[in-house]
Amino acid sequence: MNSRLFSLTKSLSRRRFHHTAVRTNVIMGIETSCDDTGCAIVDSSGNILGECLNSQQQVHINHGGIMPPVAKELHEQHIERVVNEALMSSKLKFKELNAIAATVKPGLPMSLLVGMGYGKKLAREHNKPFIPIHHMEAHALTIRMIEKVKFPFLVLLISGGHCLLNLVQDVDKFLLLGQSLDDAPGEALDKFARRMKLHILQEYSSMSGGRAVEVAATKGDPNAFEFPMSLAHYRDCNFSVAGLKNTARKYILKLEKTHEVEPDQIVPKMEDLCASFQLSIARHICHRVQRAMEYVSLRELLPPDEEKTLVVSGGVACNKFIRGCVEQVCLEMGYRLLAPPPHLCTDNGAMIAWNGMERWKAGKGVIDPSSPEFDEVDIQGRCILGEDMREDVAEANIKCKWVKLKI
Ligand code: KG4
Ligand code: ZN
Repeated sequence: MNSRLFSLTKSLSRRRFHHTAVRTNVIMGIETSCDDTGCAIVDSSGNILGECLNSQQQVHINHGGIMPPVAKELHEQHIERVVNEALMSSKLKFKELNAIAATVKPGLPMSLLVGMGYGKKLAREHNKPFIPIHHMEAHALTIRMIEKVKFPFLVLLISGGHCLLNLVQDVDKFLLLGQSLDDAPGEALDKFARRMKLHILQEYSSMSGGRAVEVAATKGDPNAFEFPMSLAHYRDCNFSVAGLKNTARKYILKLEKTHEVEPDQIVPKMEDLCASFQLSIARHICHRVQRAMEYVSLRELLPPDEEKTLVVSGGVACNKFIRGCVEQVCLEMGYRLLAPPPHLCTDNGAMIAWNGMERWKAGKGVIDPSSPEFDEVDIQGRCILGEDMREDVAEANIKCKWVKLKI
């Protein structure tokens, strides 16, 4: 049976569950692309019926960063429990699931292998269709689980591993307008927080680097330290924060030297530096977003009579300051800004299950476990999201009059 037919026959068989509701579709999603072992079961209306997440964050904070073999081992230790707890909390049985989705790209190869391997094993054992998921596609579509957002819409994905600007035209149809040329914003914030030794302060010891910088920045002056404009001479939508990170490093070195800071001490003006570094990243993101909006308008890629939407997601989208700045650009440019709640912005199983559901409904990328395709499904550490439009964006050579951010 081909995969399209397989999905149709399955979705036509309505099932009555032991609790009152009648549901047609229920999908399990498994996430292990980085340092979170997540599993969730969602229905076709976007209800999360059961979920479980094992975060490795504290282990990696203690190690000073993510070590791929450690991440892999922790995924292996927890995957079975996480999946069983998610299923138990949904009060469903494997036989009641319509399909199993798992992240297969992009991410840490060793981590991806654990979730994909486990997902395929379950699909085989329980004779369920398997849906391979692109992690960033899942971040982009999460919003449709909780809000009515029609295609096409613009999406900004800012996380620890990625920074992307895409136009989402359909479940599996994305245009790539810009992406990170070096560190992703979350990665830069994590490294900066580490270099600032924020983790040695009790208040920040269990926070991700990005969250620690956000909290410290609320007590600082964002204009205290000057940062350059990144990629100011490139009229495209790509991102680069390595230069900003380097500027921050120079400030830290200077403060350490001037004030003879001991290894177990924090530099003075720490909050000011956090606030200024965060502002430099926010401003850079805002510029790239504004140019993407101008490009979309120039190429008439969004319907003129409908409300324009920018979705922001990924771990860094939890940052209220950065979101606030992006919101100002949205207001000026006539967009509404939508973001999933923080627990759905960071990595989780529900976003994978929902992406599986979107693909299940559309009959796209659903693989029968007895088909030859099933054995060929493999992980991919790196993978671009959608059709690459970056050259066209650069060729459009759009000069922007920047929205002035009110800080
Ligand atoms: O999406 P995510 O959970 O994992 C990746 O796919 O990368 O994002 C994790 C990243 C980390 O770099 C973390 O420091 C950052 O998101 N992050 C934040 C905040 N919360 C998490 N960055 C800035 N502000 C926050 N509140
Ligand atoms: Zn992510």
